[in-house]
Amino acid sequence: MKLLWSPRAATRLWRLWAASWPTIVLLVLLRSVWLLAIPIAVLSVGTRVPVVLPMVAGTLFDALSLMLQQRLRRSLRTSCMVTSARDALGKQGGVPESQIHAAFWAAYVSEYAISSDLPSMLAALMSTALILVFASFRMGLDLVLPVTGVLAIVGGLGFFLHRRLRPRLHITVKNRARTADWLSAAERDAGEIGGTRSEEPFVAKVREATHNWCSAEDTVERKQIGHRFVLLLLLGIGLAFVLSYRGIDWMHLAFGNEGEQFSLRTVADVLLLVTAIPVALKVARHANALLTAYGELAEMHPPDRVPRLSTQAWKEPPRGLVVRDLLVKYGDKLALHIPFWQASFEKPVGILGPNGSGKTTFASVLGGVLAPTEGNVLVGGVPSQQIDRNDVAFVPQDPVLIEALTIEENIRLVVPLATTQQQEAILQRLGLHKPLDQKTGELSRGERRRIALARALLKESQLLILDETDAWLDDAGRRILFEILQEETKKRAVVIVSHRQEVLTVVGDVLRLDESHQMVVD
Ligand SMILES: Nc1ncnc2c1ncn2[C@@H]1O[C@H](COP(=O)(O)OP(=O)(O)O)[C@@H](O)[C@H]1O
Ligand SMILES: [Mg+2]
Repeated sequence: MKLLWSPRAATRLWRLWAASWPTIVLLVLLRSVWLLAIPIAVLSVGTRVPVVLPMVAGTLFDALSLMLQQRLRRSLRTSCMVTSARDALGKQGGVPESQIHAAFWAAYVSEYAISSDLPSMLAALMSTALILVFASFRMGLDLVLPVTGVLAIVGGLGFFLHRRLRPRLHITVKNRARTADWLSAAERDAGEIGGTRSEEPFVAKVREATHNWCSAEDTVERKQIGHRFVLLLLLGIGLAFVLSYRGIDWMHLAFGNEGEQFSLRTVADVLLLVTAIPVALKVARHANALLTAYGELAEMHPPDRVPRLSTQAWKEPPRGLVVRDLLVKYGDKLALHIPFWQASFEKPVGILGPNGSGKTTFASVLGGVLAPTEGNVLVGGVPSQQIDRNDVAFVPQDPVLIEALTIEENIRLVVPLATTQQQEAILQRLGLHKPLDQKTGELSRGERRRIALARALLKESQLLILDETDAWLDDAGRRILFEILQEETKKRAVVIVSHRQEVLTVVGDVLRLDESHQMVVD
């Protein structure tokens, strides 16, 4: 019973419903038409409506509802997955935290429940009610009560059977296995992307994987509808065969009833009630699936966050940077070794060195996105690993934007509250004169990098880290960047990583690294 009221699960489902209820209502209506097609066809026996008409209409509506359902699922799943990915990433800039499974699974369960089980259950429920109303008009009201009783018993039995059988059903197991595969693939990607220290490629990967996943499911479903169609055709042929054997003119029955076959009408009435049974079972199946999904959703918890201190102390000047016994290895390979170094944030701090000397490694440790093998980087006495990611803005060496999103959307991924004016002002200053609604896929690499820089500058963080940002810009761009960094230093701690001697004009304390990944001691 505890599972039946989970505020988190209920809120999640409610939000999805609220965001997509028109589609869901439309889906329910279309699916109901399909579920009603067979009973209507049965009902039409002995009337002027040819049997084939409701069947064809039902099939068309079913195809339409399938298309709609696929669209809904794609959009729900993508938005759920991306939201979960971002939650798991710690919201603003950073790398994925471990144990994101729960978040993804929750997204999967909730979107599935909303896009598939809820409309189907409502449609089946509505169709059962309509069939009963039809039947009661045709066969007299006194039949309604016993028939409803029978349907309720059948539905109830079906529900409990499904509840018992569901965990053993092949399809459930297969779906779970596939989800697990997909999740580990996403995590593996996330792990790789951890190397580039950026959120966007991960989110883009999630989006892409979600789309692929949806496409795969869509194909399966289209096949299913094909099978259903063939099955109906075979049933029809079988029926025609039986009718012909019995000497009944089925051509006449299917394509042009004249209202004469009264005995067939009686048969049709019974068949009508019989068709209500599978529809009632459908309600049972989807109700069970929905409840199970809800239960699973209720049991899930967001991934545990690595505890992070966002202590006030480190934010208040004078704060300094202290490196103690820092050793970073990738596997067995040494990437950085600094026994001791300290710097003041009075001016921007510079990290200089040739390619491969360990600058990006240092920036990643400082940004809290890479755990040192040994030792620590302390900002105002707080180990970098414990600084809240919301307090850090990081411009990676190779930032990636989501190409399908506009400039503004890409900025809002990192700074959701940045106003249009703020965005325009900073982009103008960086020399990017493009409309905010332009897709970033249409921009050059240099232009995209300016957007990555702009959003880091817009993020009101306590620590700003730039990896080789100066190397992306032309002379004029660099001059502006250095100006900006000088202004930023008054507000927050700034660290710039560079292989160019020119940064020496703007930085205060400098850490020099050499090819052997060691600190150069003057
Ligand atoms: N993800 C990684 N896996 C293994 N080795 C890496 C990884 N990232 C960097 N390295 C290695 O660590 C060393 C330092 O790299 P990096 O910090 O990127 O240097 P820089 O930024 O100064 O060019 C290099 O030898 C590089 O090959
Ligand atoms: Mg580098």
